[in-house]
Amino acid sequence: MTSFEGVKIFKGLENVAIAETSLSYINGEKGRLVYRGIPVEVLAEKASFEEVAFLLWFGYLPNRKELDDLIRFMADSRDIHPEIEDHIARLPNKAHPMDVLRSCVSLFGVFEDLQASHDELQRAARITAKLPTIVSYHYRLSRGMKPVPPDKTLDHASNFYYMITGEKPDEEISKLMNSILILHAEQGLNASTFTAMVIASTLSDMYSSITGAIGALKGPLHGGANEKVIDMIEEIGTPENVESYVEKALKEKRKIPGFGHRVYKTYDPRSKVLKEYARKLSLKMNDAKYFPIAEKLEKVVVEKLAHKKIFPNVDLYSGIVYKLLGFPKEIYTAIFAIARVVGWTAHVIEYTKSNKIIRPCGVYVGPMNAEYIPLEARE
Ligand code: ACO
Repeated sequence: MTSFEGVKIFKGLENVAIAETSLSYINGEKGRLVYRGIPVEVLAEKASFEEVAFLLWFGYLPNRKELDDLIRFMADSRDIHPEIEDHIARLPNKAHPMDVLRSCVSLFGVFEDLQASHDELQRAARITAKLPTIVSYHYRLSRGMKPVPPDKTLDHASNFYYMITGEKPDEEISKLMNSILILHAEQGLNASTFTAMVIASTLSDMYSSITGAIGALKGPLHGGANEKVIDMIEEIGTPENVESYVEKALKEKRKIPGFGHRVYKTYDPRSKVLKEYARKLSLKMNDAKYFPIAEKLEKVVVEKLAHKKIFPNVDLYSGIVYKLLGFPKEIYTAIFAIARVVGWTAHVIEYTKSNKIIRPCGVYVGPMNAEYIPLEARE
């Protein structure tokens, strides 16, 4: 922290609180994350994604009827406007799924919102329902495959798997998909959620907030790290190369994707759960590459960087889980967005209930009293 003329600069807004929230609590020293008081590990084990979405949006666990109503509403909202389908078909095959998602959510505001209710909770549920459809349509069209329309009989997570692969998941994969989405659904005022809140604080609309949040999540310091983890593992090649890779990266002052966190100063609780999923899947799929390299990376990086409180974050093992599930690397960050949209929308709704425009300040360090030199007189 530095200060100038009495104004303190909090670089990266580290440790700056801008609002109260009752959505989630993170204890970075103890590696604890709870959604509305319930540990995330418990929710990942016991709940469905729709149940967690209800919990985050409404503030309590739904009863059977409330849950069934939300499930039905979301299943009925999965189709996307034909204009948006056409738009996806026209996009370049090589377009990054996060760019596709960002563009399409922006278009939701133009096409979808005209015919639907303007209730913010319904908007949140509708946007959440549609993100998997966009990602899967673009994925399949860009690879010359026919899109798989949503199946209303499947839950949100299983339907996403089905729309990508064309196959209905077995019970084990369905549970895993639910758990992955739950683990990614909410995480306080991270960069993408904060982006959504800044936009909402101007009393702009939900679509603009979510469009901005998707752009923030894409970056490799945030959600984009899960793709980078797989690039790194492929570059490393075998567990024997891990030590030299890490040493070289640290010597060159490069950040190792999948490690470090602004808030967690110990193991991210989600990384522990995801590690076990990755371990199980790697046995099931006979993987002798991805999991062993990641586990060795964890050991070496923690040995070298624990003194700086650098530990695995959510992205170290999530990419491996997706890889072993057969998902293409390009959609990993989009899967993150499919889940996190619940946290984004919930924070937007919570914050705007007692809204104050978010407007920090910068400290001017440029020249004072500079002279205006006419264009003709400039060199
Ligand atoms: N590899 C090596 N060193 C690291 C790493 C890393 N992954 N992360 C932090 N460090 C070091 C920094 O070099 C710095 O060292 P120094 O004090 O000697 O200069 C110290 O730890 C503090 O790091 P900062 O970058 O200042 O921490 P900050 O809170 O600003 O950044 C961030 C957090 C962006 C997550 C960072 O740890 C990082 O870049 N990690 C790699 C990318 C990544 O995995 N991002 C996903 C995060 S989780 C999420 O957003 C979903």
